[in-house]
Amino acid sequence: MSAQVLSEAARRRTFAIISHPDAGKTTLTEKFLLYAGAITSGGAVKAHEGRRAATSDWMEMEQTRGISITSTALNFPYRQHELNLLDTPGHRDFSEDTYRVLSAVDAVVMVLDSAKGIEPQTLKLFEVCRSRNLPVITFLNKLDRPGLEPLELLDQIEDQIGLRPTPATWPVGSFGDLRGVIDRRTDIFTRFTRTARGSQIAPEEDVPADRAASEEGSAWTKSTEESDLLSAMGADVDLASFLAGESTPVFAGSALTNFGVRHLLDAIVDLAPAPTARLDVDDKPRHLDEPCSAFVFKVQANMDRNHRDRIAFARICSGKFDRGMVMTCERTGKPFATKYASTVFGAERTTVDEAFPGDVVGLVNATGLNIGDTLFDDSGAPVQFPPIPAFAPEVFATARPVDTGKTKQFRKGLDQLNEEGVVQVLKDPDWGDASPVLAAVGQLQFEVFANRLDIEFNAPIELSSAPYQAIRLTDKESAAMLREKPGVRILARFDGHLVALFENKYALARVEQNEPELMLDHIIAG
Ligand code: G4P
Repeated sequence: MSAQVLSEAARRRTFAIISHPDAGKTTLTEKFLLYAGAITSGGAVKAHEGRRAATSDWMEMEQTRGISITSTALNFPYRQHELNLLDTPGHRDFSEDTYRVLSAVDAVVMVLDSAKGIEPQTLKLFEVCRSRNLPVITFLNKLDRPGLEPLELLDQIEDQIGLRPTPATWPVGSFGDLRGVIDRRTDIFTRFTRTARGSQIAPEEDVPADRAASEEGSAWTKSTEESDLLSAMGADVDLASFLAGESTPVFAGSALTNFGVRHLLDAIVDLAPAPTARLDVDDKPRHLDEPCSAFVFKVQANMDRNHRDRIAFARICSGKFDRGMVMTCERTGKPFATKYASTVFGAERTTVDEAFPGDVVGLVNATGLNIGDTLFDDSGAPVQFPPIPAFAPEVFATARPVDTGKTKQFRKGLDQLNEEGVVQVLKDPDWGDASPVLAAVGQLQFEVFANRLDIEFNAPIELSSAPYQAIRLTDKESAAMLREKPGVRILARFDGHLVALFENKYALARVEQNEPELMLDHIIAG
């Protein structure tokens, strides 16, 4: 049993793709599925003007093709391995969901648009990876069209992100004339042939160096010279520093034309780490072969009109998960029956009968489970995994029902969406439910919130931005003092913690400087 768990865990790779919008995350995801044989032709995912999230594209694809590619977790086999690709939502905007998803993966693929280099969202997402020491594999995308010099992109990675770039593959031909890539680890040059919109796997040919030199001419010379320069600088792939989050293997290519995609997908199997023991709140490892444990990183209700319910997405951390097993929720001490567990999210669900460390299961009817909850099988020792880090909200709004007759539905929706972590609902300790302040990491969260209140709770709302610029966690004693200050408001989170909202950063800085004894914590635990 434990040997089975260990060997199954060793076959798992659980990862996410991070990128600035438009860098090519959706295209690359689709191409991974194409190369893994999970879909037979690519090109169905089209970016549309004004499109907000990839999710709808997946849903659409799912309907038209009858395959399950949805936002939360894609599971597909590749080279005798099971790949779990977790979607980082909040596509056009940043959202708290993204942080949570990154707490459930073991590695990350960072996609850069080679015409744009490091963009603001890439940086922000990378900071989350750094805080978790996640190994990062970098993909220089869109090399099929004019862009920055690849060497310049490496400089940006080093200077702006502080990761040492170690190219695994290097492009031959550039600026609109990409021919293929050299695998610097084997010196094999792979030449690709374009297919229409990259809808099929790109035919490829391994070309020996002497033939490549004569056939590719100056493109070959430039590429090999650059590659030699990189070797001279010691920029070769180094597994130990990659796993430590210090260096990043870099792959070159084009998701659209499929050039270099296979090399990247292989790297997920060959370089990205398999699940390892997860540390509990006391920093004690929960070994992979201990009885089953999992943590909830996402909760979503009413995902699908046909199944109006609440699903908790949990990542298995140890042991074998068998559908039907009763697990204990560490926070409440209550048993949770896993009779309804699924892997597929969207229009159709597929029941999952067993799962192993690294896998994500969707637990249906998950009333009573919250984000960050630990579940464990009673036959072993109890365990509590650390709470999922939540970053301080940066945007604030107020909401009221358009129709005052819908106040009851409004409140119900507010509570549920708060529990799901769609936004944080902050209430005045004295006024209770009246005029709550909504706090989020990104604006998109408000839009999702308004939309769901309207559609799922039949309580359309009017949103207005609230005049706050910073938030800190505080305590009762400090709150009494802070309440007296100009530009400060004290509210309570749903878990009872008090928070101080500041109308401007100056008001915050003044308090921090003049009264350092007051408790003002960056909100890091959800
Ligand atoms: P995202 O999920 O990161 O937001 O990016 P997405 O994959 O949607 O790609 C954004 C745009 O970039 C799309 O173009 C896509 O076709 C294009 N793209 C992705 N990878 C490559 C690449 O390797 N080379 C080139 N040249 N383009 C790439 P679009 O014009 O918005 O839509 P479409 O009509 O072309 O599909």
